[in-house]
Amino acid sequence: LYTLIDAGIKEILIISGPNHMGAIFELLGSGKDFDCDLTYRVQDTAGGLPHAINVAKHFANGEKFVSMNGDNIIIESIKPFVKEFEQGKELSRVLLTQVSEEEAKQAGVAELDHEGNVVGFEEKPKIPKSNWAVIGCYMYTPEVFEVIRTLKPSARGELEITDLHNHYLKQGALKASKLSHGWKDAGTFDELVNINVFMQNKMHES
Ligand code: G1P
Repeated sequence: LYTLIDAGIKEILIISGPNHMGAIFELLGSGKDFDCDLTYRVQDTAGGLPHAINVAKHFANGEKFVSMNGDNIIIESIKPFVKEFEQGKELSRVLLTQVSEEEAKQAGVAELDHEGNVVGFEEKPKIPKSNWAVIGCYMYTPEVFEVIRTLKPSARGELEITDLHNHYLKQGALKASKLSHGWKDAGTFDELVNINVFMQNKMHES
């Protein structure tokens, strides 16, 4: 939430499965404590990230938007990238950061050519083609909702964000920016513990 607010985004839609929505609302409320305006919508089935993004179709109201996975902690400000995307012509912008091989195996990973250009994305590869992971913070134009309609579920029965980004890449309509200060994904209990310790240290520093 702070990452989005820092980037100047004040109208935020929170999407969650039905089980956790009550707790999330209890924690965040209307958003007035954070100087933002929160709206809530339920994703009824775990259909994958593009399926969740599709829930935001009416909220996006024909405008460009930023989508962020709720379990991601981004250390660096995304403000410059959001500004560039707002003014740019690309249909999607993704953010990359360097991670260990073990972390790459748990993430979306970019394949780069020898000039450092992204030529493909793979979801949780057994053998990552690079150590550049795709952060769970994506930027789209409203045209994305048309593309999501064309995606087919993967073997695990979900729409994959990686398929969406490969589509844009093939069209030459995606830009990738590299973040230097990294990011953390609190998607597992171990990572959640690590992030709590990390945030505690950060709070003591400030
Ligand atoms: C999702 C995406 C993955 C991305 C990651 C970032 O994976 O599918 O491409 O790198 O978020 O956190 P998840 O961690 O939800 O399995």
